[in-house]
Amino acid sequence: EKGNYRHFMQKEIFEQPTVVAQTLSSYVRPLEQKVALPQIDFDISAINRVTIVACGTSYYAGMVAKYWFEQFARVPVDIDFASEFRYREPVLEKGGLALFISQSGETADTLAALRHCKAEGQTIAVVVNVPTSSMAREADLLLPTHAGPEIGVASTKAFTCQLAVLAALAAHFAARKGRIDAAEEAEIVRYLLEAPACLNGALQHDDEIAAMAHLIAPARDVLYLGRGPDFPLALEGALKLKEISYIHAEGYAAGEMKHGPIALIDEAVPVIVLAPSGPLFEKTVSNMQEVRARGGQIVLISDAQGLEEAGEGCMATIEMPKVHPLIAPLVYAVPVQLLAYHTACVKGTDVDQPRNLAKSVTVE
Ligand code: M6R
Repeated sequence: EKGNYRHFMQKEIFEQPTVVAQTLSSYVRPLEQKVALPQIDFDISAINRVTIVACGTSYYAGMVAKYWFEQFARVPVDIDFASEFRYREPVLEKGGLALFISQSGETADTLAALRHCKAEGQTIAVVVNVPTSSMAREADLLLPTHAGPEIGVASTKAFTCQLAVLAALAAHFAARKGRIDAAEEAEIVRYLLEAPACLNGALQHDDEIAAMAHLIAPARDVLYLGRGPDFPLALEGALKLKEISYIHAEGYAAGEMKHGPIALIDEAVPVIVLAPSGPLFEKTVSNMQEVRARGGQIVLISDAQGLEEAGEGCMATIEMPKVHPLIAPLVYAVPVQLLAYHTACVKGTDVDQPRNLAKSVTVE
């Protein structure tokens, strides 16, 4: 049931504050200020390598998690598209954790990679939204997202719920491995619990983004730029726009622009820059200036402080609440989802059932 919404995708975008809170409630204990995972019968502190495998949007959630696991827990992470994973004959050392991320839990490539890792003696963890799925059944450690059924082909609420679980998992790893103390764990818990309110704050910009979509809809190509954990968000933004509006879009690590793609820039190419203020902000802004110097039309997504510093001269800006870098990827997912959604609406495409796509890809 769509209720008052025009599309399932729109409804699912707006459900995010609720379903992220719902998901977090199984992974954090607010009173004790600790992260908590489902009962597990193996020693997480003994894990020295994590291999993440997924497809599409779930893969981008995995890319964000790589930054978190490495930064907080100092665990090395490998990540692959499921369709590439087995064929490169990956080296899987004993005692590794293989982590699969999937909304449906049925994606054929991801499931095949899971079975491969199981046969190779890896401990299997899965982050899935469908608790009765094949992946859920075959896991050693089941980490469910509680996003509820996701109907729109473009994944939205499953993604932010995956990020919520992965952030909690990274913090759990960090705590068990003695990389963070109780006070730091409590701080992470506080930031995570702020996420639903921050998502709500991001959703308040819906009308503004709907108006902005008229600037994006005529474009033939759109670029998305981000750095650090917001780089996967640039990839996710480009994927969302491609799949529902059929506009060609690319996500790039902001610093990589000058190594080639900047040749594409002219007045007709909107460039969406994801740049929360923080340690990487100045660097991203200088990449943005390189784009602007070549006539690029910029949409800057940042917080009040970032927009104050770098918003001048942009074609448009979207103000996000000021958030801790840990939860920025969750919050910045909202404007890229809304921008893709409204652009598709302007173009009149079938938002919930885009051409050539299925909700669950059960062939390899
Ligand atoms: O069910 P899964 O998370 O395993 O699906 C993976 C991809 O097929 C999926 O994320 C796809 O990229 C979405 N249509 C993106 O919006």
